[in-house]
Amino acid sequence: MVLMEVVVNFLRNTGDNHSSGEIRSEQNAHRRQEDRKRILVAGGAGFLGSHLCERLLGAGHQVICIDNFSTGLRRNIEHLKRSNAFSVIAGDIAEPIDLDVDEIYNLAYSASPHYQADPIHTTKTCVIGSLNLLELAARRRARIFQASTPEAPREPNVQPQAESYWGNVNPFGTHSYDRGKRCAEAMFFDFRKTQVGIKIIRIFNTYGPRMRVDDGRIISNFIVQALKGENITIYGNGSRTRSFCFIDDLIDGFVRVMASSPSMTGPFNLGNPEEFTIDELAEQVVQLTGSRSKIIHRPLPINHPRQPRPDISLAMRELDWRPKVNLSAGLARTIRYFDGLLAGADQTLTEVV
Ligand SMILES: NC(=O)c1ccc[n+]([C@@H]2O[C@H](COP(=O)([O-])OP(=O)(O)OC[C@H]3O[C@@H](n4cnc5c(N)ncnc54)[C@H](O)[C@@H]3O)[C@@H](O)[C@H]2O)c1
Repeated sequence: MVLMEVVVNFLRNTGDNHSSGEIRSEQNAHRRQEDRKRILVAGGAGFLGSHLCERLLGAGHQVICIDNFSTGLRRNIEHLKRSNAFSVIAGDIAEPIDLDVDEIYNLAYSASPHYQADPIHTTKTCVIGSLNLLELAARRRARIFQASTPEAPREPNVQPQAESYWGNVNPFGTHSYDRGKRCAEAMFFDFRKTQVGIKIIRIFNTYGPRMRVDDGRIISNFIVQALKGENITIYGNGSRTRSFCFIDDLIDGFVRVMASSPSMTGPFNLGNPEEFTIDELAEQVVQLTGSRSKIIHRPLPINHPRQPRPDISLAMRELDWRPKVNLSAGLARTIRYFDGLLAGADQTLTEVV
């Protein structure tokens, strides 16, 4: 068995003196010792993972991030190295791992559209990686959380989409992502039968600071185009509707799901059900950036997947969770992030590790 012992705090050893007030308070580190958990975040250098690490550190926990940096960025976690409670493993969850932990969040994944570059590794991450983490949870009696996706059913036949919908997957299509996520969900329920405490959530389209400039999602595309003064391209006539959840709301949902009673395994849908047309989104981005970009329409590609709208009634009822950040407030914060990033573009945009 290959144990990933290497590491820990390799970033700290780079000697970077980055100062940031972003970790809410190490000080919550005054949290009572017995309440302080050792938490593994797989995919912790990614968009969602870095925000989760920050939230958990702020709550006084000890956080270990494992990431293979395939889509995650070192800059996402730079500021966290100021905390003694934070450590990093540069490793792949498709390799066996052994650590003493109380909780595990599995967010590791080559998110869209990068998963198509190496579909076999995508499946390995989802299936073998999840299995490794489930076995770790079983050995350590740790609670384990899986970041799943509503895309598991792929092209949905049902809108809005509740957790009970079984889906419509094409088993031999090009989407290793959906198939892998489905298999992982099934394995989580198999491990539950062996008394492992599982939590599954399905994340609906989330945005915010630390999205990658090149991740190909609609919000980052529009913001970058607007900030660069380029045309904003809308595929289709712009009247299609989409829903967008701000990162802070999602992370709040993560923490609530993990803290919920053992019988609440999920899957829970987490997302923002409020819908906007693509035209409305583009107009808000242009207005908030003060850009002179023109909005142009192009034909919708064939087989363009429909985006499911979340039905979040289960999370509202069982977790008392609902999104609070409205689109213009979330967009304003995201635009500030991309504006800063583009201003330092030469070093940062090419900093894909
Ligand atoms: N952002 C969304 O709107 C959204 C929607 C649905 C589901 N999700 C799920 O949430 C999770 C996080 O998404 P994200 O948007 O933060 O993506 P991301 O690409 O920013 O983060 C994923 C992280 O996992 C790391 N990673 C990939 N394969 C790995 C492996 N084998 N071992 C270790 N690390 C590995 C990447 O380097 C990256 O840091 C993913 O599982 C994704 O499927 C996200």
